[in-house]
Amino acid sequence: MNLLIENARQIITCHSRGYRFKAGKFQSEIGLIENSSIYIENGRIKWLGKKIPQFVIKSNFRKIDAGSKIVLPGFIDSHTHLVFAGDRANEFSMRIKGKSYEEIANAGGGIISTVKAVRKTSKKGLLKLAKERLNSSISFGVTTIEAKSGYGLDTENEIKMLEVINELNQQSPIDVYATFLGAHAFPKNKTKEEYIDEILFSMIPLAAKRNLATFIDVFCEKNYFSADETVKIFMQGINFGLVPKLHTNQFNSIGGIEAAVNYDAISVDHLEVMTEKDIGSLKGGGSIACLLPSVSYFLDIPYAPAKKLTENRIPVALATDFNPGSAMSENIQLVMSLAVQKLKMNIEETINAVTLNAAAALGISHNVGSIETGKQGDLLIFDVPDYKHLLYHFGVNTLNTVIKKGKIIMKL
Ligand code: NIG
Ligand code: FE
Repeated sequence: MNLLIENARQIITCHSRGYRFKAGKFQSEIGLIENSSIYIENGRIKWLGKKIPQFVIKSNFRKIDAGSKIVLPGFIDSHTHLVFAGDRANEFSMRIKGKSYEEIANAGGGIISTVKAVRKTSKKGLLKLAKERLNSSISFGVTTIEAKSGYGLDTENEIKMLEVINELNQQSPIDVYATFLGAHAFPKNKTKEEYIDEILFSMIPLAAKRNLATFIDVFCEKNYFSADETVKIFMQGINFGLVPKLHTNQFNSIGGIEAAVNYDAISVDHLEVMTEKDIGSLKGGGSIACLLPSVSYFLDIPYAPAKKLTENRIPVALATDFNPGSAMSENIQLVMSLAVQKLKMNIEETINAVTLNAAAALGISHNVGSIETGKQGDLLIFDVPDYKHLLYHFGVNTLNTVIKKGKIIMKL
């Protein structure tokens, strides 16, 4: 069935002008058009304009009257850890009383406590939990999502997590991209060297051979993986056809940015702590800076220097980092609100950061992330009079309809 969205009050196209992403001043351009319609045929945007042409009128379609509403590209959450079991509500409570995320991790909590829960949970159990969370993500406007392994920390359980992510992609109405993050932490029962060998010579070859992941990620941080270890893991990932992404500069600057740029990482994520040298390395490289302000909010740590990045023409994306420890929220609209209030990004930069630039952070901005003819029909209809209300009217969900490949997948 084809779909005609008729006479939308505003369409925010996030037009790419043929570029892979938007940076600098261009990141403030959202491509606003008014009182226009969109026609989607066989899942793709076929036509966009004011006067509906004959070929559309003559075809079979379902119609949505969007006269009082606005249309945006589907949001893309390019960084999540949505497959996990158990919860860390007790750790949260300890943090609220004053213990830090690092102190809790050093005392045996943190990532390792989720690893224990994931190892005990079956594939079926993990899938059920992930599906519920994915539906919640969709209800905030997410039409494409990325999900990472990293709570297995042995070959069997890392592969189990990747299988769950792939199954989720098969069974859900939206696209789910898998990232292998074996290098998320060190398991207790092995030396560092032994575990890195397991990542290099067991996990990566197996994940790649079975086509279970698109990306390879590492947590490059003090007490986790060093820049040299990151490079080793990236090199092997690249050998096996995986595309690098990196968790870096969350608490310390230890050379992750430089390593990521040297190995053409598609995105560098977190960036709460940035030196001048880090900004210099990112500038001119092709990596997207993916900021995760929910983590700063939830852990009460500094926010990433977003303004500094955009001033240096570094393309900025935003994502939830949804995970049980540092960002227990699938709400990408909250991320957008934090971006304007705390990262001091403007409304337009923020919208591009969850659409075209987020698509670029997954290497799919040729297909999704903007409303242009030929692109996939992934769209959101919001019940607001003007796009500024998306951020102005905060803390409530004004989303009305979620459309994926021309099909209505959720009505709110
Ligand atoms: O992106 N920084 C490392 N990994 C996650 C947190 C994972 C966890 O605490 O379970 C993050 O913040
Ligand atoms: Fe993360």
